[in-house]
Amino acid sequence: MNENWIAPSILSANFAKLGEEVDNVLAAGADIVHFDVMDNHFVPNLTIGPLVCEALRKHGVTAPIDVHLMVAPVDRIIPDFAKAGASIITFHPEASVHIDRTLQLIKDHGCKAGLTFNPGTPLHYLDHIMDKLDMILLMSVNPGFGGQSFIPSALDKLRQVRNRIDESGFNIRLEIDGGVNGSNIREIKAAGADTFVAGSAIFGKPDYKKVIDEMRSEMAKAG
Ligand code: DX5
Ligand code: ZN
Repeated sequence: MNENWIAPSILSANFAKLGEEVDNVLAAGADIVHFDVMDNHFVPNLTIGPLVCEALRKHGVTAPIDVHLMVAPVDRIIPDFAKAGASIITFHPEASVHIDRTLQLIKDHGCKAGLTFNPGTPLHYLDHIMDKLDMILLMSVNPGFGGQSFIPSALDKLRQVRNRIDESGFNIRLEIDGGVNGSNIREIKAAGADTFVAGSAIFGKPDYKKVIDEMRSEMAKAG
């Protein structure tokens, strides 16, 4: 496994041949599969659920599946995703009345747990739960759609979270999601991210390996 993870968002894949798309993007050098779950309630779009996650596992996908839940309420669907083969499950604090309980629920079902922050969501939600986190996901767009532009203030937020993680001493991945591409990944990496979601930047191009290789060489320049 690479130190920095490229996490293609299958939201921008061709759903008519999803298994093949996931195989191809993993063969092209992706580390994990980013799986966006939307409910037309918490966010204004509707996507895929546990059945599709299970189908990817049955298809033979063995890479970690990083399930980003944009649904409210969130607790009821967590056991279903664990059973369907999710590896990491992240949710938004606004979608859970009891954040600590939801994190524990994810862990009790054998998955890694993470909390996701919208661009306007304050970081104080991190205050008392760092010991329960395997991942922090910062949104650099407002969730709901692929293909939006990176919101620059996410860079400062990344630096703040990087400091919090380093000071905590816990082993927590720092993931960025929204508008990531070969042109901005270098400064995103420099701001402290180690896990990079990219949907349209990868699936919108014919050669996935070329895009992922470019992303890695740009990241390397960040030192
Ligand atoms: C947005 C999703 C993202 C999205 C990223 O709500 O969480 O994962 O698919 O897409 P791009 O990389 O196209 O911004
Ligand atoms: Zn996402």
